[in-house]
Amino acid sequence: MQYRQMGKWGVKLSVVGLGSYLTIGMKLDEKQSRATVKAAFDLGINFIDTANAYNTGAAETMLGKVLKDYKRSDLFVLTKVFAPMGSGPNDQGLCAKHVYEQCHASLERLQMDYVDLLMCHRPDPSTPLEETVRTMEDLSRQGKILYWGTSEWPAELMVKGNAVAKEIGARGIGVNEPRYSMLYRHPEASVFPTCGQEGIGNVIFSGLAHGMLTGKYKPGEEAPDGTRAASDDTNAVIKALYWTEENKKRSQEVVTMAGDLGTTPAALSLAWCLRKPEVTSTIIGATKVSQIEDNAQAADLDIPQDVLDRIEELFPAPPVPGL
Ligand SMILES: NC(=O)c1ccc[n+]([C@@H]2O[C@H](COP(=O)([O-])OP(=O)(O)OC[C@H]3O[C@@H](n4cnc5c(N)ncnc54)[C@H](OP(=O)(O)O)[C@@H]3O)[C@@H](O)[C@H]2O)c1
Repeated sequence: MQYRQMGKWGVKLSVVGLGSYLTIGMKLDEKQSRATVKAAFDLGINFIDTANAYNTGAAETMLGKVLKDYKRSDLFVLTKVFAPMGSGPNDQGLCAKHVYEQCHASLERLQMDYVDLLMCHRPDPSTPLEETVRTMEDLSRQGKILYWGTSEWPAELMVKGNAVAKEIGARGIGVNEPRYSMLYRHPEASVFPTCGQEGIGNVIFSGLAHGMLTGKYKPGEEAPDGTRAASDDTNAVIKALYWTEENKKRSQEVVTMAGDLGTTPAALSLAWCLRKPEVTSTIIGATKVSQIEDNAQAADLDIPQDVLDRIEELFPAPPVPGL
């Protein structure tokens, strides 16, 4: 495993992290969740990503049971707040009340005294930035969190958030969590360059486009049984964002390129995300131990220039807005 520094901050994260959306505490029972975490840990993965809202707390609860077996200082645990956790007016968003209460609820579910990072899962235009930044600083000073971060925040908002933090003597954003893959290159336009300037790390999600870039979804065929795309419980995003014949065809080209390099399409797709110095880690989702073993190979894969050029032709970045 390789480790990268989280932006300008001192902590080091494995370049492959283990996520828990739709998997741990949902598709995976306790035995499978344990096996998944063990496989990841044995491969050197020290970074675990979760959120209060993943299966309405069930992912954190399962991680709480499983992670008790590990030394706390060997793990970097990130959780998130923002998405609805109830139907009341203060059961969502980034106001001080909800962030404070959900931080404590997450700690209880995770059975931990602190989380390494608490992340704003999305922006909340109804709450002043200063209120959220101050709450993160207060939680840090209380020893409940070590760093805070943002997910899917536009570049300008991260800059504003850091400016507010500086003004009030609070710590700034540690890491951002954007969607990023060959099939979704939007962060390259302004999010990555801004994070580079601000010293904010990036832990990217859906680097395999929910499995589309593994090559298992073939042109002209339905999703194989047991896969994320096959079940209506888990396929909303893959169907909405990636499910086209064109993408299935392009994913077969990734299979061919990976075969020529003696690697797998999943490892090639994740290593491609890691070519960006602004990317600290790629968070993987996995339903099988074999997927973790496959995906972790990305950490040691250098992609030759001719293959990078071919990927550029097949998966061009979208035009930068305003240019
Ligand atoms: N911040 C946010 O808003 C946000 C949003 C989404 C996710 N995340 C985080 O990022 C993590 C990863 O996101 P994601 O699940 O969308 O990632 P992904 O890596 O694009 O998709 C993961 C899924 O693809 C399939 N897969 C993975 N490796 C494979 C392999 N080697 N071969 C074949 N199939 C494979 C598995 O599904 P099947 O086996 O079921 O087909 C797996 O659950 C999540 O767990 C979560 O922690 C964050």
